[in-house]
Amino acid sequence: MKFLNIFLLIVVATACLPAQKTSIEKKVDAILKKMTLDEKIGQMTQVDYDALKQHPADAVTFSIGSILWGGNTEINDLTAKGWADLYDSLQALSQKTRLKIPLLFGIDGVHGHNNVTNATIFPHNIGLGATRNPALVEKVAMITGKEIRGTGIQWDFSPCVAVARDERWGRTFESFGEDPNLVKELGAAYVKGIQGSELNGQSLNLACVKHYVGDGGTTNGKDQGNTEVDEATLRAIHLPGYVETIHGGALTVMPSYSSWNGNKLHGSKYLLTDVLKNELGFKGFLVSDWAGIDQLSPKFEYAIEQTINAGLDMAMIPNGRGQRNNYVEYITLLKKLVNKKRIPMSRIDDAVRRILTVKIQMKLENSLTVDRTLLKEVGSAEHRFVARDVVRQSLVLLKNERNILPLSKKINKIFVAGKGANDIGIQCGGWTIAWQGSEGNIVAGGTTILQGIKNTVSKETEVLYSADGSIADSSGVAIVVVGEKPYAEMFGDRKDLSLSKEDAALIEKIKAKGISVVVLLLSGRPMIINSSLQNSDAFIAAWLPGSEGQGVADVLFGDYVPTGKLPHSWPKSMDQIPINIGDKNYDPLFPFGFGLTYK
Ligand code: BGC
Repeated sequence: MKFLNIFLLIVVATACLPAQKTSIEKKVDAILKKMTLDEKIGQMTQVDYDALKQHPADAVTFSIGSILWGGNTEINDLTAKGWADLYDSLQALSQKTRLKIPLLFGIDGVHGHNNVTNATIFPHNIGLGATRNPALVEKVAMITGKEIRGTGIQWDFSPCVAVARDERWGRTFESFGEDPNLVKELGAAYVKGIQGSELNGQSLNLACVKHYVGDGGTTNGKDQGNTEVDEATLRAIHLPGYVETIHGGALTVMPSYSSWNGNKLHGSKYLLTDVLKNELGFKGFLVSDWAGIDQLSPKFEYAIEQTINAGLDMAMIPNGRGQRNNYVEYITLLKKLVNKKRIPMSRIDDAVRRILTVKIQMKLENSLTVDRTLLKEVGSAEHRFVARDVVRQSLVLLKNERNILPLSKKINKIFVAGKGANDIGIQCGGWTIAWQGSEGNIVAGGTTILQGIKNTVSKETEVLYSADGSIADSSGVAIVVVGEKPYAEMFGDRKDLSLSKEDAALIEKIKAKGISVVVLLLSGRPMIINSSLQNSDAFIAAWLPGSEGQGVADVLFGDYVPTGKLPHSWPKSMDQIPINIGDKNYDPLFPFGFGLTYK
């Protein structure tokens, strides 16, 4: 009995002792102790390269913690080597600061390292959703991480775990789909692939799960709009992606520009601190979206006060000196707010502790210069082969009359039509080299759909291409590529998702020649296709497949049997939108999960 009491006493006493600090915690404590308020604020500042390049010494003067390249940030040399050289020169600045804390560099690698001309460009997330293949998504993320690291950068603003509920939203293609279960599964796979089991500071990257929370649920699919749902719905539809990725070890999260019932996420203490940090136990740090703070108040000082007190840890400050809301103004105002005790020192210490913990976990001190052996990984044949496989697995076959697909490789003549058939920029979509993407030959080393077709057919087969279909006659089979032209956030919202009149007319004109017509739709979302679907013999939703058009040809000619499944319910008409699985009176043109295969 006496023995048991002593035992209990020891158990209770041990439980009351403060937990042993890990070596990382001890390191963070030691650095924090040395830091001045200015140095702490510097760590909480992320500056866009476009702004910093005017005054690079500011990185030293203000002990800046992080640099990003936004969608439109200009650099002189877009090759992987150009990026790596730039990384080395910028990271060297961190070693001129008093504490020599390495800089963390962030970029949007949202479908591969998509700002680098010779990188592997994967299908956008909507296509990954169609693969239903978490192991493949993990591989995509691992390769993306490697290619990003090949240019030095260690932080990918990805995955986007938006649950896009209204296809009018111009960021629908950045979402894995309309179903929270699909999104959480693929989001977690992405984080696993990009971060690995351990952030070892070598070939792996830091994930950034975005845009917290409800970005895909805004009324009328308005970008940066208002998500008007009760809390149970917010939690059931839009939160699971965060629960899953945070449990999977995601170390950074980006709040959304959007609002929840009228309150901007960037200023929501309830959602940022109470739910994310306290309830979900998120131990990493929060980085704002691009100038996301600015939207909280016309007075920058109030905006900063609100967001930092709400729980934001690092601010993404896009503009340069001399402009409103630039980083110098942010740094000055944040210091003033702390000195006036409008932001408690404990909040600053918490933010800096979170940032330093991630930096130390990543062993950034081992990567002060780019490991040039990784350079050859960027756009390697091995990576492109995986991307090609992702393309094959992402295509969704919606119609296949008389089993005209797969096409024979020995057909006499194939007429290929539509601008997108011979335009790698169109097949990549937004967030490719430029923020909004663009038409044309913008990336190096990939394959257009037309080239993929030519590579696949027999020597005897004639492949004739005309964008407007004018070459087509009654003597062959036609492959017509139609759909959307590149766009990204802010510019991609649409009231009408009907296929353009020109596209519908092109399909009709070629069908009128009396030949079989295979339609390939390149788009960031389901579109209203009714009459064109009727005018086609086979119809494939190919999403935005990226640089490896060969994967499309693999499916057309039967080297791969289609397996893709719709990540969205496909509406019959605009007045059905929003339409989502589980709706009352659910009656789409094709249901969520639909996808034919070959017999
Ligand atoms: C987007 C984010 C992106 C950030 C940095 C913002 O406009 O909403 O998704 O990560 O820019 O480029």
